[in-house]
Amino acid sequence: MELLSEYILEINHISVCFDGFYALTDVTTKIKRNSIHFFIGPNGAGKTTLLDIICAKTKPTSGTVVFNPMYKEPITLTGMPEYEIVWNGIGRKFQVPSVFVNLTVEDNMVLSLSGGKRIVDSILRTPSDEQNEHINSLLKQVGLFEKKNFRAGALAHGEKQWLEIAMQLVQEPELIMLDEPAAGMGKPETFKSGEILKKIKKDCTIIVIEHDMDFVKQIADTVTVLHEGKILMEGSVESALADKTVQAVYLGRGKE
Ligand SMILES: Nc1ncnc2c1ncn2[C@@H]1O[C@H](COP(=O)(O)OP(=O)(O)O)[C@@H](O)[C@H]1O
Ligand SMILES: [Mg+2]
Repeated sequence: MELLSEYILEINHISVCFDGFYALTDVTTKIKRNSIHFFIGPNGAGKTTLLDIICAKTKPTSGTVVFNPMYKEPITLTGMPEYEIVWNGIGRKFQVPSVFVNLTVEDNMVLSLSGGKRIVDSILRTPSDEQNEHINSLLKQVGLFEKKNFRAGALAHGEKQWLEIAMQLVQEPELIMLDEPAAGMGKPETFKSGEILKKIKKDCTIIVIEHDMDFVKQIADTVTVLHEGKILMEGSVESALADKTVQAVYLGRGKE
């Protein structure tokens, strides 16, 4: 069996039915390793549901998701308990920030060392030199090293989002998923987020849901357009922007 696939994730014929309503219908796609892959489309298209499927928060009605990690056999994620997904190297950032506002930036990072498993342990344990170095280098990557002793609650909205991304990276995941990371950000912050993600993708594959098309243009390697639970088209940003159907159902409507 070939272990190292060019693709880190294979989404095979995923359908999700909620009480007779299909949120996703026969969605099939692959995510390239070390790429930034966007899912875009109008509200209700099924984007968040797809991320819920990948991290096993939601069970599909049919179909499978297969993860091809670097040093292990392929792993079928569908049907796995949610916590095991994280152990296997997949992180997810939700729309609502989940940093501890009364802790410092650095302490938030230290807590992430436990992966949310044993918070009490990680509060009591002093990180090793190696762990401290790792935390410092991640904070530098997201531009927060100078603020490591700041209370997280004192950070600007964008900085909190970057901290959360850094917290996800503490566990050295092979894949992270970001649901609307630029929501509530101004243009300069959004641009900076893009530059941060471009650095991160050298170590980690990134799946992003986002409406801001400038952001998509800035960093997307591949774009999948979802509409009413189905894949409308997939390809480069340029091809998505030029696609007449995509323009009609999504881009033409402006931001929702
Ligand atoms: N748990 C659920 N139960 C019933 N319907 C749901 C549930 N989650 C999502 N939906 C429906 O599935 C569709 C897709 O939702 P969602 O994935 O959140 O879309 P998007 O993220 O693209 O805006 C929507 O019509 C939504 O109302
Ligand atoms: Mg959504």
